[in-house]
Amino acid sequence: MNNIFNYKNNELFCEDLLLKTIAEKFGTPTYVYSINGMLDSLFIFENAFKILNKLVCYSVKANSNISVIKLFVGGGAGIDCNSGGELFRAIKAGATPSKIIFTGVGKTEEEIKFALETKVLMLKVESFQELESINNIAASLNLIAPIAIRVNPDVDAKTHPYISTGLAENKFGINISEAQNAFQIAKSLPNLKIVGVDMHIGSQITTPLPYKDAINKLILFVNDLNKNGIILEHLDVGGGFGVDYDGNNKINISEFANELTPLLNNFKGKIIFEPGRFLTANSGVLLTKVLFTKSNNKKEFVIVDAGMNDIVRPTLYNALHEIKPLKVNSNPKNVVDIVGPVCESADFIRKNYSIQNCNQGDYLAIMSSGAYGFVMSSNYNTRRRAAEVLVDKNNFYLIRKRETFQDLISGEIII
Ligand SMILES: Cc1ncc(COP(=O)(O)O)c(C=O)c1O
Repeated sequence: MNNIFNYKNNELFCEDLLLKTIAEKFGTPTYVYSINGMLDSLFIFENAFKILNKLVCYSVKANSNISVIKLFVGGGAGIDCNSGGELFRAIKAGATPSKIIFTGVGKTEEEIKFALETKVLMLKVESFQELESINNIAASLNLIAPIAIRVNPDVDAKTHPYISTGLAENKFGINISEAQNAFQIAKSLPNLKIVGVDMHIGSQITTPLPYKDAINKLILFVNDLNKNGIILEHLDVGGGFGVDYDGNNKINISEFANELTPLLNNFKGKIIFEPGRFLTANSGVLLTKVLFTKSNNKKEFVIVDAGMNDIVRPTLYNALHEIKPLKVNSNPKNVVDIVGPVCESADFIRKNYSIQNCNQGDYLAIMSSGAYGFVMSSNYNTRRRAAEVLVDKNNFYLIRKRETFQDLISGEIII
């Protein structure tokens, strides 16, 4: 679905639904996701890599609402989980355990047990100590643990430093220079079964080049494993495929596929992908309302009711989200800082942004908020987390209620 968010008669729609309907019914801030946008992204991704023998595992860290996970499960995707909580959600969403992969640089004993008892497709191991731990836990459960080792290929994904993961200086995976040794140790441990090798070099990667570098290294690495008698069923290239946030970074996934498929086709087993952002980011918006406007020291501020606790990406990564009014007017444009209500100067949505003159009560949409939006939200300033709504054509479904004040204190014990 090409145009998920469109203006008709100067009003912004999601699919065939007037977004104002949702803002008025559920209040703001509210996340809105397009079902058909998300399913189309999965189709586009699958189709781009169609000649590969593959499994696309939706990385639920991007957006872990159970209804969203269920959508991808229904679309045939596997699931990539990074914690016991995500695994719990995946199961609740009806994911098939043999299509779930379990990742994470710091798994607890409880999480390893949970993944083994769930009989996931594989656990990805990120350190020598973890090999031993999984082996011991599997032995105590009288199970054989299917594992892949996450190799850190030491390539620069050319993305924001906070979302770069495949450099030697990052905490993830086992350095490629030591990883042959890790596989040999894994082979010697009686309760492990080696099924794959894995990499994930970063997020919001906008060109195929870093993947090419890393995959070339990984293929050579797999050839060496073969020579040492280790044959793998899975080669997992991770996620990280970028999206266009501000109209300046057109991403064509077919270009990635054209460059990467010939390299991956050499592998005899199954290729696993773990896209998160690519499948959800551009299918979601965060609706917010203008509370006040003011001018200070020659700066114009638009104060909205969504803050850094609702969407932290601008603060954390300097992410540039487009912001669109739900109703276009003929007011002249202004250059403003759009800021939230949280008591931090770092609480901004967009700085020095040119947008039509906003008035108190206007609704705005923070675009491309379907990934790493709600999932990174918090209760900072004791703010209630937002509602979430799914849209299918002109139908809508509340998939998470806005928190109440009572929800905020429900776990607390007053002494
Ligand atoms: C191991 C792993 N796989 C997949 C992903 C998903 O990345 P993205 O949303 O950029 O596709 C991440 C993100 O951090 C990750 O750490």
